[in-house]
Amino acid sequence: LQTIELNASLGKEEIYLQLLPQLRGLLESEADLIANLANCCAVLKETFRWWWVGFYLVKGNELVLGPFQGTLACTRIAFGKGVCGSAWQQKRSLVVPDVEAFPGHIACSAASKSEIVLPLFGPNQQIIGVLDVDSEYLNHFDHIDEKYLGQILQLIKA
Ligand code: SME
Repeated sequence: LQTIELNASLGKEEIYLQLLPQLRGLLESEADLIANLANCCAVLKETFRWWWVGFYLVKGNELVLGPFQGTLACTRIAFGKGVCGSAWQQKRSLVVPDVEAFPGHIACSAASKSEIVLPLFGPNQQIIGVLDVDSEYLNHFDHIDEKYLGQILQLIKA
């Protein structure tokens, strides 16, 4: 089992390592934030076949749904609410192996079983939004996703 898990991890890391320079080229050649967020979602969804991948953007005291790939989603999330609002409040990434065990999780889709949320930082290190990835499988995300999704978000210039 350990070997399988190790190989699975290496496979995922290799995919991220191949993806990063491609995304760098794509994102550096366009200055528009929404266009870049949209393409970022498309590339990630296509590559990893995740259930849902998208951005929520800070507007006043709420997160409002931005570019995404997947099924219809809730449009507004308050500061500190759900995984997305908590990541914003705590200014850090959250890896949630079982969404039902996360107090206050917002279920946009009954299919979602685990998720990862990372803050998206603006030019002055303020949080301008979050990236939310949902999986229909339990325990789907780990420190490897956190590391490389974080690097991908750094390519996005607000
Ligand atoms: N589950 C998220 C809400 C967003 S959707 O799942 C797309 C949360 O708890 O913040």
